[in-house]
Amino acid sequence: MSHKNKILVESSGLCVNFPVKKDALFSKPKYLQAATDVSIQIHRGETFGLVGESGCGKSTFANATLGLLKPSAGKVLFDGQDINELPTQQFREMRKRMQKIFQDPGSSLNPRFTVFELIAEPLVIRGGYTLSQQKEMVVRMLESVGLSEADLYRYPSDFSGGQQQRIAIARALILRPEYLVCDEPVSALDVSVHAQILNLLMDMQKKMGITYLFISHNLAVVKKICDRMAIMYLGKVVEYGDSEKIFANPLHPYTKALISAVLSIDVNSDQKRITLKGDVSSPINPPVGCRFCKRCPAARADCETEECKLTEVEPDHFVACRFCC
Ligand SMILES: Nc1ncnc2c1ncn2[C@@H]1O[C@H](COP(=O)(O)OP(=O)(O)OP(=O)(O)O)[C@@H](O)[C@H]1O
Ligand SMILES: [Mg+2]
Repeated sequence: MSHKNKILVESSGLCVNFPVKKDALFSKPKYLQAATDVSIQIHRGETFGLVGESGCGKSTFANATLGLLKPSAGKVLFDGQDINELPTQQFREMRKRMQKIFQDPGSSLNPRFTVFELIAEPLVIRGGYTLSQQKEMVVRMLESVGLSEADLYRYPSDFSGGQQQRIAIARALILRPEYLVCDEPVSALDVSVHAQILNLLMDMQKKMGITYLFISHNLAVVKKICDRMAIMYLGKVVEYGDSEKIFANPLHPYTKALISAVLSIDVNSDQKRITLKGDVSSPINPPVGCRFCKRCPAARADCETEECKLTEVEPDHFVACRFCC
């Protein structure tokens, strides 16, 4: 049965292309390749980190796993089922097992709703709960995210950014989802509350056994909380697997550069910071070969023409660079 499935979310050969406006009526249609051939397995109960620079396709991938974007090719399996093949009613049921929290809690919470209305809304939509049951569940959830019954009838604007994110987390967790996408959940918040929100997410995971897809620019955070991870560059996964192994032994030149930027801040580290040169290629006409080759310090002539497939170099550690394997 479903609970025996070790893999909760799986993408195979997932591509998401966005059409680009044509420059002339009869010119060939163009596509922006936001995610290309992404094959990732997210294990039940783990925190899976997704990193890479702005525009590399992290949110696109996450939204495709939630069924919010349709793949142009490839598929997404949730608990073993292809989410894009399910009949509407079954997909709706499945969708209740997935939730998302956003970067900016202020704009994701309707300012005209009270805290009670915001957190109870998913219960109302699902139906079958009396008002007093709703209230009891909301109060319990509020307390577990560090707020209290006294906050029930206040509005989002009465709260600080960190508290608003707690409300957003309570709303996301009220239906006890199995899979939660955290798309840069702390990056819009004051640095002083980052640790509190991350600790809250980790506590809730322990209590409820939730699987997290955790998107972040902050590799120090990813190193701390993620069990497994993928590094994306221009729509493609360049390195993937067990995060301890990747941090201990980064292989792809892009991963090395990202990790060196974090480690060089550590005064005890004798690692040199690797600075990348060159511009990021366009996702509209990405290079035919390795998408990183224009910026890669180790690139050779054939990197421009030949693509490298993700290859397993040690158990649960994959890299897409033929000079690294
Ligand atoms: N709805 C859309 N229509 C057209 N292009 C899009 C759309 N959504 C995303 N893109 C493009 O797809 C690429 C990937 O975007 P995405 O939002 O997934 O990046 P990201 O890695 O989440 O970036 P960030 O770290 O800035 O959030 C970008 O080039 C972006 O401009
Ligand atoms: Mg994003």
